[in-house]
Amino acid sequence: MMPSGHIQIAAVMGHPIAHSRSPFLHKFWLKEYGLNGSFVALDVTPENLQKELRALPSKAFRGTCVTIPHKETTAQIVDELDESAHAIGAVNLVTVLPDGRLRGQNTDGYGFIENIRGHGTWEQSRKHAIVFGAGGAARAVVYALAQEKFEAITILNRTRAKTEALTASIQPAVKAKLQVADWAARNDVLKDADVLVNTTSLGMDGHPPLEISIEQLPSSALVTDIVYTPLATPLLKAAMDRGNPTQDGLGMLMHQARPAFKAFYGQDPDVTPALRQALVDDIQKTHT
Ligand code: ATR
Repeated sequence: MMPSGHIQIAAVMGHPIAHSRSPFLHKFWLKEYGLNGSFVALDVTPENLQKELRALPSKAFRGTCVTIPHKETTAQIVDELDESAHAIGAVNLVTVLPDGRLRGQNTDGYGFIENIRGHGTWEQSRKHAIVFGAGGAARAVVYALAQEKFEAITILNRTRAKTEALTASIQPAVKAKLQVADWAARNDVLKDADVLVNTTSLGMDGHPPLEISIEQLPSSALVTDIVYTPLATPLLKAAMDRGNPTQDGLGMLMHQARPAFKAFYGQDPDVTPALRQALVDDIQKTHT
């Protein structure tokens, strides 16, 4: 328990920062649980990142969330990394340790798995997962799927060199067989997939659609997209139309914030329909 009457302060650092949903999530939970805490959004340029992170202990901050474009650099700055941040090569949560050192964690993979756990044939079959994309989000997703004991993970990205770099750095940390396929083969690799994940920006409002035919995908396969604007991306709609189980990206956003809230304020918060609705309303309000 935190001492009562003592305000717990935490932040999110990014550049720009206006798009971040972290303040909304953390303030929702602070109110929900009646906690004496505050959460601030800090616009931190890349040049100032190290200085701002190092200032956290003296400003009595419990820690900070880290978002675009600082996730990789933060992994270089902090004093220690947890296993997932080390394997992924990126940090989205920094906590201040009692001795003032900084610990970096990556909760994106955790959020991704919590969002899809229990959906589709999750408990019956974890043989083969397919991941589109090879950016920072893809790294977290691939690592997390490997932790969940998928036997093989096939990764496809427009720029194949990035896929190869991803597998080369993550393969030593995981048992799952990571395999690379050409972006052009994306319709053909689907036939024995248990899970299909889009981590690219394709299908997001203002971006081109993901051009794909999911004809060969087993109807039991879970299809999920980390894009949440719109909630039902064209990929998810196509999957729903043929009866596949689907899960949208909003749950990942909510679940990745839970370990941060627990670290900052000492309470493991719940992801509830009320939070989801509030977030949907907020996104609709600001996303026009
Ligand atoms: P993040 O770190 O959030 O994953 P990112 O690094 O910008 O974001 O990655 C965006 C992903 O969308 C990349 O995999 C990118 O492919 P490239 O590595 O080839 O750039 C993918 N992407 C973006 N636009 C694309 C397009 N028109 N066709 C195919 N893939 C695209």
